[in-house]
Amino acid sequence: MATKRPTASPYRCTECGWTTLKWVGRCGECQQWGTVVESTESAGIAPRRVTAIAPAVGRSARPITMIDTTSTPRRTSGIAEFDRVLGGGVVPGAAILLSGEPGVGKSTLLLEVAAQSARAGRRVLYASGEESAAQVRLRAERTGALHDELFLANETDLATILGHVDEVEPDLLIVDSVQTVSSSLSDGLAGHPSQVREVAATLIRVAKERALPIVFVGHVTKDGSIAGPRILEHLVDVVCHFEGDRQTSLRFLRTLKNRFGPTDEVGCFDMTGAGIEEVPDPSRLFLGSGRPVAGTCITIALEGRRALPVEVQALTVPASGPNPRRVVSGVDSPRVAMIIALLEKRAHVDVSKDDVYVSTVGGVRLVEPGADLAIAIAIATAKSERAVRHDVAAIGELSLSGEIRPVTQAAQRRHEASRLGYKTVIDERTSSIGSALQLVKATAMAPAAEGDIPEF
Ligand SMILES: Nc1ncnc2c1ncn2[C@@H]1O[C@H](COP(=O)(O)OP(=O)(O)OP(=O)(O)O)[C@@H](O)[C@H]1O
Ligand SMILES: [Mg+2]
Repeated sequence: MATKRPTASPYRCTECGWTTLKWVGRCGECQQWGTVVESTESAGIAPRRVTAIAPAVGRSARPITMIDTTSTPRRTSGIAEFDRVLGGGVVPGAAILLSGEPGVGKSTLLLEVAAQSARAGRRVLYASGEESAAQVRLRAERTGALHDELFLANETDLATILGHVDEVEPDLLIVDSVQTVSSSLSDGLAGHPSQVREVAATLIRVAKERALPIVFVGHVTKDGSIAGPRILEHLVDVVCHFEGDRQTSLRFLRTLKNRFGPTDEVGCFDMTGAGIEEVPDPSRLFLGSGRPVAGTCITIALEGRRALPVEVQALTVPASGPNPRRVVSGVDSPRVAMIIALLEKRAHVDVSKDDVYVSTVGGVRLVEPGADLAIAIAIATAKSERAVRHDVAAIGELSLSGEIRPVTQAAQRRHEASRLGYKTVIDERTSSIGSALQLVKATAMAPAAEGDIPEF
């Protein structure tokens, strides 16, 4: 006698025959509501069969010149720095992935984007799988992001989020985070690669169908890459990374991929207790007091396509032990070691018996070789205890022969230097580190710092 096989998928859609292990309110296949019932109740439905694919023409292919783009103008998010990073605004139907370290401020930034959009008359649905609606509301109260057009849903089930989208009909959907949402169509727990793929693919399909822009928050792994399947980055149109040092309030938003604009734009933000604020002109953020102090030198660095003045500071003191210390912050340690060797060999600045400390102002990281010359001048003037004139900036990479090499986007950097009042820019036109130091020495002054030190 044949025994009855246990049903593999106990729930079945009465409309299309789709099966699922878990009961859901909406069919994952035909998207009908309330049609999923226990399998025994729908036993009469024939299982779906995979048939050979026959050619079919739905919408016919059209010449590219006939494609209408007027229906997809970019919309401003209300935050100019966010728009700048996206390439000039939010494209309807765009899928944007925002990644960043835990606690960097992803939810705060997106809540601000949501509030600004709501203020501009666009309805926003913020689906939070990580925090309760009350938690998000508390943040909104703190950052001034309360608005009637901003809808919150504390939800982790994909079908339910889609139900909210149907009900609310938002102009912007925010999913915080994609790793917390799960679909009954896929196996595994939320965050599992197959789940993340399924959730993202379904939401992106909905985004394209409805011309609804979606922003997903994506977790990062320990090494800083986006958690989950690599395909997630391929699926979305834009990948942004939100980053910043925990010790400072400065945050940068960068694009790693953008189907609608360049990827070298950087947005600057300030995280405060009252939320996130744009920093449209970060020119003066990375500068010190401006008084002449021995051992400081300004360079013009590039952050994305932005040229920014950054102050490099150095301190040299006689070493207390047999091995002098080289301590750096915000600059590359091997690069500083090379510059110290160069100074000794090519410019007769000997710090071999000194402890050398080098740092940048404002916690900015100077990783490009264009900062070499400023680092060298800062160390040399720290040793000579003479201050570089306040209107001098130095831009250049140093070669091992002591020559100053040109940097990328030199014209833009010089333009920014002159805009900010730096009258003398020392760069590759001054051929070597030796002649650059001669130039600095000719105009250097005694630092004003000594007289300011209070007596204890
Ligand atoms: N009451 C508060 N006052 C001031 N700053 C706060 C307050 N609460 C949170 N913050 C700041 O907001 C940051 C957290 O921001 P947010 O929750 O947006 O980060 P997140 O990137 O979304 O983090 P997660 O990865 O945990 O979701 C904290 O690190 C803290 O600096
Ligand atoms: Mg968050």
